[in-house]
Amino acid sequence: MSSSNPLRDPADRRLPRIAGPSGLVIFGVTGDLSRKKLMPAVYDLANRGLLPPGFSLVGFARREWQNEDFAQEVHDAVKEHARTPFREEVWQQLIQGMRFVQGTFDDDDAFERLRSTIDELDKAQGTGGNFAFYLSVPPRSFPVVIQQLKKHGLADQEGGSWRRAVIEKPFGHDLKSAEELNKVVHEVFEPDQVFRIDHYLGKETVQNILALRFANTMFEPIWNRSFVDHVQITMAEDIGIGGRAGYYDGIGAARDVIQNHLLQLMALTAMEEPASFDADALAAEKTKVLGAVRLPKDLGRSSVRGQYAAGWQGGEKVIGYLQEEGIDPRSKTDTYAAIKVGIDNRRWAGVPFYLRTGKRLGRRVTEIAVVFQRAPHSPFDHTATEELGQNAVVIRVQPDEGITVRFGSKVPGTSMEIRDVSMDFAYGESFTESSPEAYERLILDVLLGDANLFPRTEEVELSWKILDPIEQYWDKHGKPAQYPSGTWGPAEADEMLARDGRSWRRP
Ligand SMILES: NC(=O)c1ccc[n+]([C@@H]2O[C@H](COP(=O)([O-])OP(=O)(O)OC[C@H]3O[C@@H](n4cnc5c(N)ncnc54)[C@H](OP(=O)(O)O)[C@@H]3O)[C@@H](O)[C@H]2O)c1
Repeated sequence: MSSSNPLRDPADRRLPRIAGPSGLVIFGVTGDLSRKKLMPAVYDLANRGLLPPGFSLVGFARREWQNEDFAQEVHDAVKEHARTPFREEVWQQLIQGMRFVQGTFDDDDAFERLRSTIDELDKAQGTGGNFAFYLSVPPRSFPVVIQQLKKHGLADQEGGSWRRAVIEKPFGHDLKSAEELNKVVHEVFEPDQVFRIDHYLGKETVQNILALRFANTMFEPIWNRSFVDHVQITMAEDIGIGGRAGYYDGIGAARDVIQNHLLQLMALTAMEEPASFDADALAAEKTKVLGAVRLPKDLGRSSVRGQYAAGWQGGEKVIGYLQEEGIDPRSKTDTYAAIKVGIDNRRWAGVPFYLRTGKRLGRRVTEIAVVFQRAPHSPFDHTATEELGQNAVVIRVQPDEGITVRFGSKVPGTSMEIRDVSMDFAYGESFTESSPEAYERLILDVLLGDANLFPRTEEVELSWKILDPIEQYWDKHGKPAQYPSGTWGPAEADEMLARDGRSWRRP
C-alpha cells in the first residue's frame, strides 16, 4: 500500500471515482436512447458529483437547433427520465458546457464544426482535449461516423489527451458483418479506445454475479458439474415490439438478446476466477468460456424460435407480431428464442445451459438460475417429499433485484413432510442506496477509461460464432412457432426441456 491511510490511496475503489477533465459527444442525440437513457445518465452523474467541473456535452444531429434548443431538450429529457432529483445549481453548471452541432453523418463541414466546437470547449471549459464519441445511431451508420472521425482528425490523441469511441449494439448481425465492423473500427481506434455497449454489464446485479461467486466461500465449491444439474438464463419481456418494427424485423430475439446479453451473463456465470478484476483478466476468462461453447449436433431439437400471436397481457387484449404496424405479414422474425448449449471444459462438461428470451411473455423478468442435482439418496419417505424440487441459486437481475436460494425444509408438524422454501436477499431491503442506472455506470467508466464492463472484439466475434449456425439452421427450416401473448412461449420450448427430463422455471 502506497499510503499509510488507505482512504487516501487514489487506487482505493471504495472512494467515489470522479472523471477527470473531459467531454462527451453524442451522435444521434435526438434519438430514443439518448433521450431516455443517455442525457438523464449524464445529469445523474453530474448530480452525484462524479463529473469534472467543466464537463461538456455536445449533441450532433440533423435538426436545425441552436445551443439553447438543445439545452431545452436535455432539460426536458432529464426532468422526465432522470433517476435523481432535479437541482437547479447542478443544471446551471452542466448547461455551461452544452453545445449543439447540426449536420448529417456524411457532411464534412459539420465534422469540421464539431472539431472547432471541441477546440472552443477545451479553452472555455478546460476539457483538455479528452472526448468520448458516443455512437447512438442506427447500426448501418457506425462505419460512416467512425470514418468521419478519422478523416477530420477527431480520433487523434494529441499532447497526452484521449479520444474514445462508444459503440451501441447491435455490433454486427452475424460473424462476417461483426468482423467487417471491427476492421473499420480498428483502422481508426486502438483496442483500448473502443467501448462496445452491452448495457446489461452495467447493471449492479450482473456485477454482483462476480461478488457472489468470488467474494464468498460457500458457492464456488459447488459451482461445477459435480453438483450443478443445469443452468437456465432467462430474459423475458411482457411488452411487444412497440414502435420499433424497423429495427426489430429481420433481427429478432436471438440476435437482439442472446448474442450479447445472455451469452455475457452465461460467461460471467461459468467463467473461472480471474487473476484480478482488471479488464484484460476479466476478458480473458470470459473469452475462454465463449470459446469453449459447444452447440448440440441436432439444432432442430436443441433450439426453438417463436413468434407472439394475439392474446391477453395484463388484462388487455393485444395483437400478434404479424399484425403489428410495419411488419410484413409473412415475416419469419423470431420474437422468442431458446437454445441449449454446452461448455466443453472440466468444470462444466455435461451440464446444459438453457438460454431463452422473448417478447410478450408472462412477465418481465431477467434471471440466472443455477439448478443443483437432486440428493443422491433420500432417507425420507417418498410420500413425505412429493413437492420437493431441486435446490437452486437464482440471481434476479431485474426487476426485484436480488438473490434467492431454494431448498427443502421440514413443514411444521408431527410428520416428516418436506417442502421447497426460498431464502431471499433483496437489494431494496439490504441497502439504502438505490442502484445507479446501467448507463450512468457505463458512461462514467468510459470517461475514466475503465474497460471492465465492455465486451472485447474476441467476445463479440465468438458470440456470433455461437449464434450463426443456429440462425442458418432456422433460415433453412420452417418458420417460428406461434405462441399466444402473455404465455411463456411456444410448446416446443417446453418439449425441448421435457426431452431432457427438465422443465423451465416459471419465474
Ligand atoms: N432505443 C433503445 O432503447 C435502444 C436500446 C439498446 C440499443 N439501442 C441502440 O442505440 C442506437 C440508437 O437507437 P435509438 O433507438 O435512439 O435510434 P433512433 O431513435 O432511431 O435515433 C437515431 C438517431 O440517429 C440520427 N440519425 C440517423 N441517421 C442520421 C444521419 N444520416 N445523419 C445524422 N443523424 C442521423 C437521428 O437523427 P434525426 O432525429 O435527425 O433523425 C437520431 O438522432 C442504435 O444503435 C440502437 O440499436 C437503442
